[in-house]
Amino acid sequence: MPVPLLHVEDLKVHFPTRRGLARAADGVSFDLEEGKTHALVGESGCGKSVTALAIAGLIPRERASISATSLRFRETDLLSLDPRDYRGLRGREIAMIFQEPMTALNPVMKVGNQILEAIEIHEDSTPTEERKKRVVQLMASTGLAEPDVLYEKYPHQLSGGMRQRIMIAMALALKPAILIADEPTTALDVTVQAQILELMNALQKEMGTAILLITHDLGVVAQTAHTMSVLYAGQVVESGSVRDVFSEPCHPYTQALFQSLPARARNGELVPIPGSVPPATEYDSLHSPCRFYDRCQFKDDRCFQQSTAPGHVAWCRRSAFANNKLNQVH
Ligand SMILES: Nc1ncnc2c1ncn2[C@@H]1O[C@H](COP(=O)(O)OP(=O)(O)O)[C@@H](O)[C@H]1O
Ligand code: SF4
Ligand SMILES: [Mg+2]
Repeated sequence: MPVPLLHVEDLKVHFPTRRGLARAADGVSFDLEEGKTHALVGESGCGKSVTALAIAGLIPRERASISATSLRFRETDLLSLDPRDYRGLRGREIAMIFQEPMTALNPVMKVGNQILEAIEIHEDSTPTEERKKRVVQLMASTGLAEPDVLYEKYPHQLSGGMRQRIMIAMALALKPAILIADEPTTALDVTVQAQILELMNALQKEMGTAILLITHDLGVVAQTAHTMSVLYAGQVVESGSVRDVFSEPCHPYTQALFQSLPARARNGELVPIPGSVPPATEYDSLHSPCRFYDRCQFKDDRCFQQSTAPGHVAWCRRSAFANNKLNQVH
């Protein structure tokens, strides 16, 4: 078995809060392979962003307890990196883009100079003129027309789609091995969304960047990802190849997500999942060992009789993990 580019095993990110411990990520495991896209899916509040931020080293250690059986980027143990080493890794090896580029862009700095700065933090030997040329090329490669004109613009002078392209140019400036994209198209209208997803696919092919794609949208997963993990209440409940999970979703939560999708709905009828994801401070006080119990259409007394097998962080009495995919046993 080749070593995965990113190996995440039983990642836990717990925040102390006034309401108790928020177990935002509470046993997340997945692998991201070189040059491939792995999607993390699940409703809002399931722990997708916290998982991504922890991997990128963007959660201050004093704000949370972060632990894992293993959290490795290539040969590097990410948990033992100090903040300075993490800064060196970020951008160069692991870059991140967000749903709202405005929050990550500096409003009073020309966008071209912001990309230039992203390059300069890590390389100071190339002459500035050459680096400026690279910035313009990068902007062009993200499909921005007239990049030399746009170089001089400020973020608020650009559309949401253009700003996301600027963020992508900035993230890919140093050809990182991993791009973490947290809901990169959620704030965009459908046409621009499709263009940005196409751009990410094209850049992945060209540069070989692996992508950790975070989304609540299964349509986006179908268009871009190779493998996927479904998160519920801080835990992975199902994972596998996109093809397998889409053709035969096994966990009741995954099934419910699919039933709530317009394209999958029978008779054109959407079936929304009743209830909502519990707050991360309340996972411990749920009355069933299964965190999805309250919302599950298959729940019954047997759900209380199962115990979790070692290393098996999330489960359903109707299923068992096998071959990296949940298979029905009942
Ligand atoms: N800094 C924090 N302190 C306390 N709780 C947090 C913090 N960040 C996130 N959470 C909680 O962790 C859970 C997962 O959040 P998040 O990762 O943002 O979900 P998602 O990205 O899947 O919508 C939520 O219940 C959220 O309220
Ligand atoms: S263990 Fe029970 S409640 Fe939980 S997902 Fe499976 S059937 Fe539903
Ligand atoms: Mg999020």
